[in-house]
Amino acid sequence: MFLPRKYVLILLLLLALFSSYNYIIYTDTSAYGAVRLSGKAVQGEKLWLQNNCNSCHQIYGLGGYLGPDLTNVYSFRKRDEKYLKSMFNSGINAMPEFDFNETEKAELLQFLKEIDQTGKYPNTEAVIEADGWVKIQNQNSTHE
Ligand code: HEC
Repeated sequence: MFLPRKYVLILLLLLALFSSYNYIIYTDTSAYGAVRLSGKAVQGEKLWLQNNCNSCHQIYGLGGYLGPDLTNVYSFRKRDEKYLKSMFNSGINAMPEFDFNETEKAELLQFLKEIDQTGKYPNTEAVIEADGWVKIQNQNSTHE
């Protein structure tokens, strides 16, 4: 099929723009902000994913609902490290029994600890208004 030269040029231009756009998006690290997990926490995240913890637990409300939300389990619920580590292998009630070794338990704990530092869930100062906007209490609404 023969395409007129100008169409080929437009196509190449669009491809070039698309490539640069993708390059910028996938190499830009500024959006990560303060949330950058340490190597140990990344190992913990892998265990979290491999063992489907989020099929029962939520982080920031996302995940399954059989178990509790673990966003702030490290601090907010006042669980100590010993408690959390033993919980991983406990098999208590609907929580399955896992067989993590000490290194793995420490990695999972580090993951939960660093997730905990990223914010609070639910954010008790935030109120969802009737029109769907989120307002932080004691502050003026941002969308007037
Ligand atoms: C089949 C569902 C299920 C899966 C999968 C699961 N959990 Fe749980 N988990 C629960 C339930 C239910 C509880 C609450 C147990 C209770 O105290 O009755 C719980 C409790 C916990 C607690 C204690 C929370 C607290 O505040 O007491 C931690 C920590 C935890 N799970 C971590 C994990 C991790 C890490 C994984 C993955 C390796 C995991 N869970 C996988 C169901 C699950």
